[in-house]
Amino acid sequence: MTASACPNIALIKYWGKRDEHLVLPCGDSVSMTLDVFPTTTTIRLNPEAEADTVMIGGVGAAGEVRRRVVAFLDLVRGMAGRADAAVVETRNTVPTGAGLASSASGFAALALASATAYGLDLDATALSRLARRGSGSAARSIFGGFAIWHAGKGTGTTAADLSSYAEPLPALAPELDPVLVIALLNTAPKAISSRAAMRHTVKTSPLYEAWAMSSKHDLIEMRTALAGGDLHTVGEVAERNALGMHATMLAARPAVRYLAPATLAVLDGVTQLRRDGVPAYATIDAGPNVKVLCRRADAAQVATAVRAAAAHDTNHTACPVVIAGPGPGASLRADQDAQAGR
Ligand code: PMV
Repeated sequence: MTASACPNIALIKYWGKRDEHLVLPCGDSVSMTLDVFPTTTTIRLNPEAEADTVMIGGVGAAGEVRRRVVAFLDLVRGMAGRADAAVVETRNTVPTGAGLASSASGFAALALASATAYGLDLDATALSRLARRGSGSAARSIFGGFAIWHAGKGTGTTAADLSSYAEPLPALAPELDPVLVIALLNTAPKAISSRAAMRHTVKTSPLYEAWAMSSKHDLIEMRTALAGGDLHTVGEVAERNALGMHATMLAARPAVRYLAPATLAVLDGVTQLRRDGVPAYATIDAGPNVKVLCRRADAAQVATAVRAAAAHDTNHTACPVVIAGPGPGASLRADQDAQAGR
């Protein structure tokens, strides 16, 4: 059984859990699923084996990465009332662990492939809940285009689990035609995982409560702006929400800092673009890379400006830039299964 899913980039960020075990977030979030960087995951049940085999990019996974995948398979086996071990083979086309949402595409693809392989008949909402248990942001990659992940209510109960899932937001007016210009400033794995960083931020940052509260207002404004095709407001709200999230991290004790000199150089470039009359707005996740929201018609100009800004930081003379539009939700790849005789 083979499934693919694409990463998503949040415009209203998920940062902080109220329930670590059930992966229940502190607040609602909104994202755009990309049309680039798919993860493809194949799973084959292997009843004779004693343990699961997990391959990522052709290499056997070990340590925490393997533990998370096996814990996820245990969850699926528990739901299906089955015990068979599995062989999982995953291929990411996005650099893993660099704040480019590889865990979102990875667990969305694994949720769909493993639920199908173990015979669970889940609708998209249930799949989104399941993907959430692997990595929170994966709940949103089940859906294409723009999606909202509802935080839901409560902790520790089945009702709380059922209350938190993503769903698609209505299709955008065609005149919005948004893209994200992604500046790949540094694709090395980050020093601290988003999981650990958000836990530390919630626990120690005096700014966290204030950001969580302002995020609620950001979300309302974002939904109205998306519904109205108002790219300017979508961008402004996304940028302030992301920078506010990084402010909470900078105020954590000790600070968590994903922002690099090149990140700030690109932020300057985005500000200059706006001064020059180009609607362009930045968002940044748990890593130094910057994603710039703009109209497709402006994407080439934005990409040039982003490259030039990144070059100011001497280490980044040739910063790769990828232009991503709204992409598809997670899907099964029956064609590959048939060819491979699975
Ligand atoms: O799903 P995780 O644990 O990889 O966390 C994702 C956190 C951010 O990417 C920074 C924000 C988001 O909403 O995707």
